[in-house]
Amino acid sequence: MDVYGLIGNPVGHSLSPPMHEAAYDALGLDARYVTFEPDEDAAVDAVAGADALGVAGLNVTVPFKRDVAAAVETDDLASAVGAVNTLDFSGETVTGHNTDVEGAVRALREQADAKLEGSTAVVVGAGGAGRAVAFGLADAGASVRVANRTVERAESLAADVSRAVDGATVGARGLDDLVGALADADVLVNATSVGMEEDETPVPAAALHGGLVVLDAVYAPLETRLLRDATAAGARTVDGAWMLLYQGAAAFERWTDEPAPVDAMNDALRNGLSQ
Ligand code: ATR
Repeated sequence: MDVYGLIGNPVGHSLSPPMHEAAYDALGLDARYVTFEPDEDAAVDAVAGADALGVAGLNVTVPFKRDVAAAVETDDLASAVGAVNTLDFSGETVTGHNTDVEGAVRALREQADAKLEGSTAVVVGAGGAGRAVAFGLADAGASVRVANRTVERAESLAADVSRAVDGATVGARGLDDLVGALADADVLVNATSVGMEEDETPVPAAALHGGLVVLDAVYAPLETRLLRDATAAGARTVDGAWMLLYQGAAAFERWTDEPAPVDAMNDALRNGLSQ
């Protein structure tokens, strides 16, 4: 039996176990997916231990994505983002990847048929999620505007993206002129936590329009105020569970070399979210 898992702290409410185990069931794989919650200073030791024990693959979540990235060999995108969420133990050394990047891109492409190459995208947020989304969109050929409450953080992310992604066009701003930033934009992604706890949105409804595809990385609730406002404005919307699904699907595919059974994974995810 192959053992996969997630390390983070806390991980008690994670939906990754049911999502991945639904994939093993759908394909008849003899595998389990379990959660591990090491102390804050023990994540790197935990990764070495998992490698020694023959664990087949690990996902990494908050607060360990950066510490683990610094301790393993990372691919170019993960090292540019500075965070990993997926570890592969199949080679001589442990390698780290960032499938959050692919999660956002696949969610936009497959759920809203978004054409990212040559598009203009506004990413609101410059934390861990914002970094993954901004790198993913720039790598897919979009011109990216990072907007963040703390402008310096947006500026530093924009500088990192333009350094790492060949030919990237990326700018930075605060949240005060989202109407201007979105007027000619094709894609909007909320990568802040706004909308998670309360019925709030980081983007004024007046800035939304029917030419946008709007992805909200928040998945609890599934229908955020931003997505409601976007629907009312005539925009196409993609909820955060799609991004979660496709980061999991990308990890599954890296580990197993099989196409992910995304329908089964999606059913398990949405079932977990509705409980
Ligand atoms: P994550 O890894 O989930 O992205 P994070 O690194 O803590 O978490 O980043 C949270 C993001 O949400 C940041 O972009 C943060 O803005 P700041 O960089 O200015 O802190 C943004 N954010 C959180 N609360 C916010 C609020 N009330 N209004 C606007 N942005 C907010």
